[in-house]
Amino acid sequence: MQSGYILRVLLATASLYSCLGPVACLYEATIMEFLEELRMRMCHPIPNLGLPALDPLELGPAETAVNNQYLIDFSGSINDFQLKGLSDFVLNTLKINAVPGIRSTFNITFPYTYFKSLYTAKGSLAYILNLAGDGNAEASATNFSFIMSWKLKLATTLAITDLQIEILLGDLKMYFQNLMEEERIDNFIHNLINEMGVELLGDVWKYEQTKVVAILETVINRKLPALLQSIIGGGGGGEKPPIFEGVEPDCKLVNL
Ligand SMILES: *[C@@H]1O[C@H](CO)[C@@H](O)[C@H](O)[C@H]1NC(C)=O
Ligand SMILES: *[C@@H]1O[C@H](CO)[C@@H](O)[C@H](O)[C@H]1NC(C)=O
Repeated sequence: MQSGYILRVLLATASLYSCLGPVACLYEATIMEFLEELRMRMCHPIPNLGLPALDPLELGPAETAVNNQYLIDFSGSINDFQLKGLSDFVLNTLKINAVPGIRSTFNITFPYTYFKSLYTAKGSLAYILNLAGDGNAEASATNFSFIMSWKLKLATTLAITDLQIEILLGDLKMYFQNLMEEERIDNFIHNLINEMGVELLGDVWKYEQTKVVAILETVINRKLPALLQSIIGGGGGGEKPPIFEGVEPDCKLVNL
């Protein structure tokens, strides 16, 4: 029911406000606890959060094509995409500020992430370089840090505003088997990517940042009240099943 929902949002807001002052923040502790519980379950899908298994994260098959736009003629596909390492996150900072207009910060590092995929890439770049890739694609990133900060906006529902995201990469290595038709160019491109990877990604991020951040802010605001309510627990209403119901916390017991 609508009124029950608003009540839960108000409850969540009230617990946010209860963090004010010098006492250790109950809310931050709750989120940290939640993240640890999540870490133990990231090898399974979590239906109550609508999440697939996150470590490893498997995607695909997927296909994409760019037809002669900007002199790039490209079609590509991925298969058996697998990303590992998301559950080994290190939470550096979590600072929630419940006063509207004052920044909250979240700083997380992924010490080592690695992806592996089968790929195809066919096409040409300005009709000069021919892509004829087909094989394994692999990449690893070390010390990938994700720093997010936002302000709280208190309207009728809980919402954030002025979201800022900073992304830092320690190191990035990529390998695409047989990417270019000519072996010399292939070697050159790979050296270039591996030398330039971090800066290249930084440039792409700067270029796309406003778009991504705006989309994220919208998504977060749409999901925030419900997510907060399920993390905080809604004050023992017992209408919804517990968030991790039916998902065993056994992901870190194997592969040690
Ligand atoms: C994020 O945390 C790391 C590790 O503590 C630190 O080196 C870095 O400066 C932090 N970044 C920001 C923007 O606070
Ligand atoms: C990643 O961070 C750790 C701990 O701060 C450091 O020892 C290591 O050298 C870093 N690795 C890279 C590739 O930056």
